[in-house]
Amino acid sequence: MKRTHNNGELTKEHIGEYVTLLGWVHNRRDLGGLIFLDLRDRYGITQIVVQEGSEVYNLAAKIRKEFVIKVEGKVVLREKPNKLHSTGEIEVVANSIQIINQSETPPLGINEENEVNIDTRLRYRYLDLRRPKMQRNLIFRHKVLQSIRGFLNQQDFLEIDTPILTKSTPEGARDFLVPSRLHENEYYALPQSPQLFKQLLMVSGFEKYYQIAKCFRDEDLRADRQPEFTQLDIETSFFSEDQILSLIEQLVVHVFKETLNIDIPVPFKRITYKDCINLYGTDKPDIRYGMEQFNISSILKNCQFTTFKEQVEKGGYIKCIVVNGGAESFTRKEIENLSELSRQYGAKGLAWLKYIDNDFIGPISKFLSIEEKNNLKSMLKLKNSDLVLIIADEFQTASVALGHIRTYLGEKLGLTSSKDFQFVWVVDWPLFEFDDEEKRYVAAHHPFTAPKEEDIEKLESDTASVMANAYDLVLNGYELGSGSLRIYSSDLQKRIFKVIGLSEEQAIEEFNFLLEALKFGAPPHGGIAIGLDRLLMLMLGEESIREVIPFPKNKNARCPLTLAPSRIKNYK
Ligand code: AMO
Ligand code: AMP
Repeated sequence: MKRTHNNGELTKEHIGEYVTLLGWVHNRRDLGGLIFLDLRDRYGITQIVVQEGSEVYNLAAKIRKEFVIKVEGKVVLREKPNKLHSTGEIEVVANSIQIINQSETPPLGINEENEVNIDTRLRYRYLDLRRPKMQRNLIFRHKVLQSIRGFLNQQDFLEIDTPILTKSTPEGARDFLVPSRLHENEYYALPQSPQLFKQLLMVSGFEKYYQIAKCFRDEDLRADRQPEFTQLDIETSFFSEDQILSLIEQLVVHVFKETLNIDIPVPFKRITYKDCINLYGTDKPDIRYGMEQFNISSILKNCQFTTFKEQVEKGGYIKCIVVNGGAESFTRKEIENLSELSRQYGAKGLAWLKYIDNDFIGPISKFLSIEEKNNLKSMLKLKNSDLVLIIADEFQTASVALGHIRTYLGEKLGLTSSKDFQFVWVVDWPLFEFDDEEKRYVAAHHPFTAPKEEDIEKLESDTASVMANAYDLVLNGYELGSGSLRIYSSDLQKRIFKVIGLSEEQAIEEFNFLLEALKFGAPPHGGIAIGLDRLLMLMLGEESIREVIPFPKNKNARCPLTLAPSRIKNYK
């Protein structure tokens, strides 16, 4: 099966040469007397011409799409160059063709860019992956992986792998279990992340570790969630939080430059978790556009619109966002839709004001005094034709509902470009969250995250106020990565387990190996894990991580290709 060239490399320079090519028939056009075949491989497409009267004409007439063929012929100048292909200036006049393998008519168009139903794509994924876009995406995945490795190797990191058959690590999802043959009724868990092993590697002295790690979590799927996904997992010893953040910034700069030739400015913005909720109503803000929230409680707490007044009296907040130019472009109907959206997220309604020609228009404007209007104008820096969207509610509800409206509007108003990459660090997280269902504190990240030094004394007495040395990396509204400095004292780790309601026996049963390891000179350590599939999805401007994973599951967590999961016959 020797070929002289691939299908992406022939140019004008090769005119006159005799070449041998291999590949799939991407397209065929029979002009009657003249047959054109587009020959495709991973490198590109070359046009083959077969003229009537040539020995191979009858054979060529039998060739269909996706046949695998071998062509020998002469490179000639093309009359009408095709700018879309690197080989568009030439074509190959065939003087010998061999059909190597035939193909049935493919159930999905390999050569078409049109949308194919996702279940069909996944059922015939091996064909779907022949499509130029998927070839590009997986080749890009390879380049990004190599670029990451290149950077980390150069920074003296070691790539070390950790077990897949292991004990449950709590990352907050359900585990996938594997029954043990040798130990009846006992199970391995597939790792939700390599978290505890990477910490143990720090205890072992490896200092700078990374791994492109498979993680498994049995949770409901979304566009950015798969039951099996890949993390770039990193752990360091003796690094400060600043050093870890800066390492990741340099990594991002390196990878974006090397693979997309894009310069990402550093350092990334940093925002505290508290400010984040306050300004954006979410812990993963999209900062490609503004539209931040304002707290207008102090201005409207005594206004004549009783709903607002009552909310503030109950301890609630009046918050708003300003949509520039929205007064003209939004109809009542559209505002009503936004109101409906806010209700889906728990708000009781959405009030609005249009600021036009120095005056306010809208159902609630009649309730506002001149002073209140003037204060709004100056606090919100209103410009003619601005639309103000207001929610009065408990702080969290008002913030979150407005946050969803902001996200919706960001898309709808075209304020987001997939080519604009806006990274932000969310820092200063609370260590715990109160779980209303279980009536206990749970770890906001995972229970190995170190509290801020100065808050350790409040662990038991003022649990809610304890802050963590934790950080999330957010890109364009997606949580891209998450990490923290870790606890490296066995006693402190035991205290944290106790605060989250693990009894001493439970702590020993589940985490004895960690508690023991921390007693043998564990170094201060910390790290992060970046969701690699999400990173690739965003770099490529895709809407789902399925577009960057070779063989993903469908939304019901099934593999439509192999039909896994499946019943197993005679399993002992
Ligand atoms: P965390 O659980 O936040 O942290 O996960 C880190 C990153 O992994 C990605 N991710 C996912 N991607 C696709 N599908 C999923 N189901 C999925 N779940 C998570 C996200 C997320 O930010 N051990 C800690 C990290 C650490 O502390 O170092 C951890 O796993 O992009
Ligand atoms: P109502 O007084 O319930 O008829 O509501 C009048 C307007 O105020 C409607 O547009 C509601 O969507 C809006 N509204 C009601 N409750 C709230 C609230 N808590 N915050 C903001 N707007 C509200």
